[in-house]
Amino acid sequence: MKKLAASLLALALLAGCSSGAPETGGDSSSTAAPEAASSDVKTYNVGVAIYQFNDNFMTLYRQEIENYFKTLETDNVKYNITMTDGKNDMATQTEQVDGFITQGMDVIILNLVQTSSADALIDKIVAADIPLVLINREPLAYDKDGNTLDEAYEGILNNPTVCYVGADARQSGTFQGEIVAELPDHGDINGDGKVSYVMIEGDPENIDAQYRTEFSIKALTDAGIEVECLDDQVGNWDQTKGQEIAANALTKYGDAVEVIFCNNDAMALGAAAAITAAGRTVGEDIYLLGVDALEECQEMVNNGTMTGTVLNDHIGQSHTAVDVAVKALNGETLDNYYWVDYVKVTK
Ligand code: GAL
Repeated sequence: MKKLAASLLALALLAGCSSGAPETGGDSSSTAAPEAASSDVKTYNVGVAIYQFNDNFMTLYRQEIENYFKTLETDNVKYNITMTDGKNDMATQTEQVDGFITQGMDVIILNLVQTSSADALIDKIVAADIPLVLINREPLAYDKDGNTLDEAYEGILNNPTVCYVGADARQSGTFQGEIVAELPDHGDINGDGKVSYVMIEGDPENIDAQYRTEFSIKALTDAGIEVECLDDQVGNWDQTKGQEIAANALTKYGDAVEVIFCNNDAMALGAAAAITAAGRTVGEDIYLLGVDALEECQEMVNNGTMTGTVLNDHIGQSHTAVDVAVKALNGETLDNYYWVDYVKVTK
């Protein structure tokens, strides 16, 4: 009984604040002076759920979401942003999204902790009539056994108020491999006819990690270069883990390691420290690749302490995500997918 009363109260609250129409701020009371009408301010409530604040790339991305929303504000239109840290825990993020729904957000921008939970969250958000912009972690179609398929995701295709904004991770992997293939020795430093590499992977549940791992090597083999995988370990996008994995591989395989591919720059920063500690020199006796083009890494590519990286355009992606969210707030029709290109970064 108590439960029913609580649900009814929640429903009443929900109905009261989730009309989808902007709230009217400023002086909107019926006794207001007539001139107050012209100063009415529409405030849109925006819920942004980030998979984890403690992530170098997503920190740049989320800060730019906030900055860019600010630049779009006018005297009459304001954006009230609530940003949550999923702490890389799906249960925590689910609670946060449930909170967004009860608070009646006008739009939700969602960077999933686990793309395998996309269906459950999309269903709730769609049922609450809130437009949804998925970012950074692309949910993929999957078969009945849960294997990912190279097809667009039905949860996006079938819901006109749901879309994905991101970059095609295949492109970033391909660019990493091409950077090595384009080196004068094609990555074969010791001239034994093959490129012996170590792969440091991001979160394996994430398609960015899967595709970067696959396509970096595919670019080499497509160029007719023979490869040998010495080691392939999961570093979960994390700098400290990247350093540990690289240090262990360098101890174990020594001079045989010719290339270290990292699925992102944070792990490449860790690997760079391990390379220095092992007395190796990037560009002379080893090559090092990352993805993201963090500012420190652009600097390192410039001074030769990193071979190359790939710009994961957080400005382009965050601005597109915000522009799409604003479109949704204005009742415009959304496309299913919005793609932002990666860019190869070499000296
Ligand atoms: C990738 C990025 C990684 C990490 C990850 C989080 O696109 O390259 O550094 O931020 O997203 O999902």
